[in-house]
Amino acid sequence: MKIDIHAHIIPEIDDGALNMKQADEMLQVSAQDDVGTIILTPHYSKDLQKIIVEKAKQLEQLAEKHGIKLLSGCEYDYSQVINQDELITLGDNKFVLIDLYSVAAHRQQAFERVIKNLKGTGYRFILAHPERSFGRKNRKDLQTLRDAGMFFQLSAACLLGEHGSNEQRNAHFLLRHGFGHYVATDVHYYRIQPKLLSRCEEMITEKYGEKTAQILFYENPERLLRGEPPMDIRPRRNIIVHMCSMFGIWI
Ligand SMILES: [Fe+2]
Repeated sequence: MKIDIHAHIIPEIDDGALNMKQADEMLQVSAQDDVGTIILTPHYSKDLQKIIVEKAKQLEQLAEKHGIKLLSGCEYDYSQVINQDELITLGDNKFVLIDLYSVAAHRQQAFERVIKNLKGTGYRFILAHPERSFGRKNRKDLQTLRDAGMFFQLSAACLLGEHGSNEQRNAHFLLRHGFGHYVATDVHYYRIQPKLLSRCEEMITEKYGEKTAQILFYENPERLLRGEPPMDIRPRRNIIVHMCSMFGIWI
């Protein structure tokens, strides 16, 4: 079964489910998408730990009904991670989901410094939906992040082109060049798409081969739950992409 490592389902918390009824609907959609485990990742806030404990308990009963196991986690912005002794991880390990949108949008802060600060925390980081902020022209930043041990979570909807052609192009560029380790739904109250992961898995299998799909959708999320780093993915590439990369041209 699949593991969704990034989902906003907790009711009445930021842009998660509007209420318990909608949370139930979201869980049902996940179950129909062959998801057996969901890591709940609301946006970080000061009281989140307390809120998660209260709300997640209510959700657990619903999830059980759909045959889904819930784990706690959260999604941080870069600024919320620095100078904190303890971070909320994705399940019981040292992996933290982080969004670098605020850094990427301004670019005035050198990525080397970002990395240095993140390393100082002692945690491992997974970059949420890099396709929103990083594309071909940012390959140096991406390499800096990857060399420093950052892992990358792509969104299924972006890979499928459901958020527009720019994000789709970026997502496939990232995957082709080794900047993709996980695929998640990043589901919110305003966008619930049936069979999102299954449709994406099918497309990835067709485009990049069964092995790539197996690692992205099963092997790496399972490794995450065990607290192990993901396997690197070098998907099968067509001859033009392969030849260009030999000459240092990224397409
Ligand atoms: Fe998110």
